[in-house]
Amino acid sequence: MKGDSILEVSSPEFLVQRYRTAKGFCLTSAFWFVVATLIGLAIAIELVAPDLLGNISWLVFGRIRPIHTNLVLFGFVTSGLLGAAFYFLPVLLRTEIYSERLGLAAIGLWNIILMSGVVTLATGHTQAREYAELIWPIDILVVIFFTLLFYNLMMTVKQRKEPLLYVSIWYVLASVILTGIVYFVGNVIWVPWTGAITGMPDAITLWWYGHNIFGVLLTPLAIATAYYVIPKTCGSPLYSHTLSLVGFWALMLLYTHIGTHHLLQTPAPTWLKVIAIVDSIGMIIPVAVVLINLWYTVAGKLGEIHNDVAAKFVFTGTILYLIVCIQGPIQSLPQVQRVTHYNNWVISHAHLAVLGFSGLIALGGIYYILPKITGKPLYSKFLADVQYWLVLLGVLAFSASLTIAGLIQGNGWLNGETVYKVLPQIHIYNVIRGGTGIVIFSGAVIGFYNIFRSLFFNCVKEEPS
Ligand code: HEM
Ligand code: HEM
Repeated sequence: MKGDSILEVSSPEFLVQRYRTAKGFCLTSAFWFVVATLIGLAIAIELVAPDLLGNISWLVFGRIRPIHTNLVLFGFVTSGLLGAAFYFLPVLLRTEIYSERLGLAAIGLWNIILMSGVVTLATGHTQAREYAELIWPIDILVVIFFTLLFYNLMMTVKQRKEPLLYVSIWYVLASVILTGIVYFVGNVIWVPWTGAITGMPDAITLWWYGHNIFGVLLTPLAIATAYYVIPKTCGSPLYSHTLSLVGFWALMLLYTHIGTHHLLQTPAPTWLKVIAIVDSIGMIIPVAVVLINLWYTVAGKLGEIHNDVAAKFVFTGTILYLIVCIQGPIQSLPQVQRVTHYNNWVISHAHLAVLGFSGLIALGGIYYILPKITGKPLYSKFLADVQYWLVLLGVLAFSASLTIAGLIQGNGWLNGETVYKVLPQIHIYNVIRGGTGIVIFSGAVIGFYNIFRSLFFNCVKEEPS
């Protein structure tokens, strides 16, 4: 079938063979979303009632917190966005994925990585560096995974029939290759026994890496998906191809070296902090460029977005991107960080960003491609809509309560209050976080059911419109 004009062939029987990689990533994402939020709930409960889950070693906060973060970042969001990419990349290039088998092998490896991550972290095997906790053998597998993806995608580009490389393709390719490199360096893979160098250089390397997990993995994949889904839903071309390239290069130029804004209150070199602060403010440029481009594309067509649940997820993700990226530069200022650092303010930003921005877009990407890759409508648009509201309201309430808690903590500590006086003041916000966590978890479960049924037991036989 390779080489045929495949875009015209879209019968359900034909689609069973195609897009297997995209389907695998969608299922992977939906599954880990459920597990990750369940563990999120467990750590939220531990912060409300530290003794409730007893003293079981593999359930202690320090062990399951990194399981939660690794699963949401890699298991849920990355997989969902890759699922969308493995659909729109071949479509935009008017060819097939170079090798669905290689894609499936990569998914198998990815799930082995995630599973081994859960087991090793739960049993206390960690490199104890945030977002780089996974131990050396798993790190090697992660680098192999990104190499496989890059090879598969590059070979697809090589066999393309469409000469124009639409901007989404730039973002996906850059994301996959840069993540492979950043992961290798950030996890200090050449020092297997610790996965770290020493002293301040280690913290700088770590946060260069940690920051780039958001900056070169999640953000470009999410923007790529938005750049595909929004014009398609509106039925209009992207507002400006030039702006899309300006946004791409500005992101690459600025986002890749501002990780030291995580280390403003440490003895990192001042020149590095200055660069990080100035370019964090500069991040307003790529963010504004991307959003102007996307929102001008939508101008006059909000109705189309409103009527399409997938586009609704994606468009809302772009609104939260704006909020997160107003918050980000402001909290990069040392004076502001005196109040916001080392407390729940950052946890709020993290959820608004990773779930509110990239997570919503990942879900939108999945819902957008499901009818295309199965040849049938979504199993239930209603359930997708319910999930949209649960996740959106959940993350907004979650983040609002933690922002308040963070400000109470920040002010308390700035005023020299002792921790034991501040903790009771934020207790209620921890309870609210747990409650909103249940709402988000319910959304994840409903999403898994809907995605699973859409993929495997979807009785609806109609063709997608
Ligand atoms: C204009 C863009 C952004 C800027 C300038 C920015 C800035 C920052 C800063 C300064 C911190 C550290 C705060 C502290 O420790 O006191 C931070 C934390 C964080 N940011 Fe952003 N941010 C931006 C966008 C994003 C996006 C788009 C994502 C996700 C896709 C994201 C995810 C996170 C996460 C997860 C943390 C928590 C890291 C930790 O564990 O400490 N940020 N951000
Ligand atoms: C049931 C829903 C969820 C609950 C209850 C929950 C709860 C938590 C808790 C308690 C922490 C540790 C906070 C601390 O150390 O003080 C945390 C960290 C984190 N969670 Fe969640 N979470 C949920 C869903 C998610 C989702 C869906 C995402 C992303 C898609 C996410 C991303 C993160 C990140 C990036 C961190 C690290 C934050 C940082 O260090 O700054 N969480 N979460």
